[in-house]
Amino acid sequence: MRTTRLATAALTALALFTPLTATADEASVEDAGHARKDTLRKAAPKGFFIGTAVAGGGHHENMPYPDPFTSDQPYRAVLAAEFNSVSAENQMKWEYIHPERDKYNFGMADAIVKFAQRNRQVVRGHTLLWHNQNPAWLSEGSFTKDELRSILRDHIKTVVGRYKGKIQQWDVANEIFNDSGELRTTENIWIRELGPGIVADAFRWAREADPKAKLFFNDYNVEGVNAKSNAYYALVKQFQAQGVPVDGFSAQAHLSTRYGFPGDLRANLQRFADLGLETAITELDVRMDLPADGVPTPAQLAQQADYYNRTLVACLNVEGCDSFTIWGFTDKYSWVPVFFEGEGAATVMWDDFGKKPAYHVLKETLAKAGRR
Ligand code: G3I
Repeated sequence: MRTTRLATAALTALALFTPLTATADEASVEDAGHARKDTLRKAAPKGFFIGTAVAGGGHHENMPYPDPFTSDQPYRAVLAAEFNSVSAENQMKWEYIHPERDKYNFGMADAIVKFAQRNRQVVRGHTLLWHNQNPAWLSEGSFTKDELRSILRDHIKTVVGRYKGKIQQWDVANEIFNDSGELRTTENIWIRELGPGIVADAFRWAREADPKAKLFFNDYNVEGVNAKSNAYYALVKQFQAQGVPVDGFSAQAHLSTRYGFPGDLRANLQRFADLGLETAITELDVRMDLPADGVPTPAQLAQQADYYNRTLVACLNVEGCDSFTIWGFTDKYSWVPVFFEGEGAATVMWDDFGKKPAYHVLKETLAKAGRR
C-alpha cells in the first residue's frame, strides 16, 4: 500500500468536510451527504477516486421510469455523497452527443460535468472510438476515407475540446480487440474503413484537444493476463515506441459469480504500471444467477462482496491505479438484468439504496488504505 495515501488521510477528511457551493434548490439534497461521516468517498485515501456510472440513456430509455440522473433526487443525493468520480454511462457516446452529422447534443453531458464540479467530483469521459452505440448517420452512412477521418477528428476535437480541463480520464479507444486478441476490423467502423492506424490518431487528436486529460484504452475481459490483455500490452508498447500519447489502461471488470475471480488482476495491472501507465477499474459490477424468488442468498452476497473487495485490493496495490469505478451503484438502474436474463443484483445497493455487504466491504477496505 502506498505511503502517500497514508500521510494525507486527514487532509481528505478536512477537504471533504469543507462546505460546498451548491444551488439553493439542491443544497439540502446533495450536500447533506458530504456532512455524513461514512461514505465511500470519505473513506477513500486522498488522491484515490471511487466512482460510478451516471445512469441515463442506453437501456434506461426502454424502461418504465424517467431519466434517473435528472429525475431521481434520492439517486442524485447518493451520487453526490458517496462518489468523487463520475462516468457518463451513455451520455457522452456518439449516439447521444453527436446524433446528426452536423448536430451535437451536449445537454446531458454538460449537466453531468456541472454536477461533478458542484460536488467536487472528477469526470471520466466515455468514449470516443468504439464499435457500438454509433448513430445511424455514421454507421449507415457512405463516406470517403478522408470524410470519415475528418468526421472522427472533428468529433474528438469538438467533444474533448468542449470539456478541456474538466475530464480526468478519457476512454479514447473502447473495446478494440476481441477475446482472441484480434482487432475488431469488422465491427469497428473506424478500424474497418481507415485501418489500425486510426487508433493512434484518435489518441493524438485527444491529446491536442485536452493536454491534461489522461488517455486510456478501456475493455472488458482484460482483467487477467490473456490473449486480449496481451494484445493491449503489445499495442501500448508499440504506441510508446512511436511516441503516441497513451497514458492508461483500464479493465471494465464486469464480473459474474458464475465464474472464478480473475486472480491475476493485480499482476496484470502491474505490468501496465511497469510500462509507466496509469491503470483503472472502470465499470465494475458483479452479477449473479438469481434464485427463483429473485432474492440473492447470503452466500451469494458474500461471494459478490469478495469479488468487489478483491478488485479494489488489486487496484489499491498497484502504483498508479487511482481510479475505481462501479458501473452503477443501485440495482434499480443496472444494465445487467437487461443484458443477462436470469442474472442481476450486480451492484452494491438494492433498488431502495439499501447497502449490500459489497458496499460495506469496499468502505472498510478504503478506510484501511487511508489509515495505513
Ligand atoms: O439503439 C437501440 C434502439 O434502436 C432499440 O429500439 C432499442 C430496443 O431495446 O435498443 C437500443 O439499444 C440500446 C443501447 O444501449 C443503445 O442506446 C440497448 O437497448 C441498451 O440495452 C443499451 O444499453 C447500454 C449498453 O452499454 C450498450 O452496449 C447500457 O445502458 C450501458 O450501461 C452499457 O455500457 C457499456 C459500456 O458503455 C462499455 N462497456 C460495456 C458496458 C455494458 O454493456
